[in-house]
Amino acid sequence: MSALPTIIAPSLLAADFSALREEVQAIEAAGADWLHLDVMDGHFVPNISFGPEIIRRLRPHSRLAFDAHLMIAPVEPYIAAFADAGCDHISIHPESGPHVHRGLQMIAGLGKKPGVVLNPGTPLEMLPPVLELCDIIMLMSVNPGFGGQKFIEGTLARIAAVRSMISASGRPIRLMVDGGVTASTAPRILAAGADALVAGTAVFGAPDYAAAIAGLRG
Ligand code: DX5
Ligand code: ZN
Repeated sequence: MSALPTIIAPSLLAADFSALREEVQAIEAAGADWLHLDVMDGHFVPNISFGPEIIRRLRPHSRLAFDAHLMIAPVEPYIAAFADAGCDHISIHPESGPHVHRGLQMIAGLGKKPGVVLNPGTPLEMLPPVLELCDIIMLMSVNPGFGGQKFIEGTLARIAAVRSMISASGRPIRLMVDGGVTASTAPRILAAGADALVAGTAVFGAPDYAAAIAGLRG
């Protein structure tokens, strides 16, 4: 288990795109900890969402930490634009370029918290060489590209394995889980050792955002 308090990060992907400012302010008032920003390029994943300009426009309207999840390839040429747009955390996939270590170094060099994101099929063995560079490890519990997918149960064993790696490292790395997080899957995800939950549909699809966020904390 993590010693850190649980973070709930609603994903803007599931918000009403015609009212983004109001949606961000609503989840902040409802008790969200971070705002998860899913950036998709229609190439690394089969969907297109939004880019740095939307993030830059939202930044003055919220005090939440902006948690960017970049699903774009190549990613390195765009990292500075997301830092400049006001992202506090920037997480990248090892498959989104040949130099994940350098990408993480770039993020840290820009004064932002680096995160590494692993797809459900990506071996955990790539983690040890980059662990010392990461503030966040994010495990995808669906294949990235769309909200509203079913949680992949095999993720639970991966969460436990990554929790052991983080404990052994002695560093306060956040272990985040992204995809299919609901009030019914969250307790098992947290029990397995995660301490940060991304939730799109489970928050923005709920009639009462505050109740939905509280329900995920357990
Ligand atoms: C998927 C995204 C997720 C997604 C989660 O590619 O990375 O953050 O928005 O959506 P839900 O919570 O609906 O599974
Ligand atoms: Zn995401």
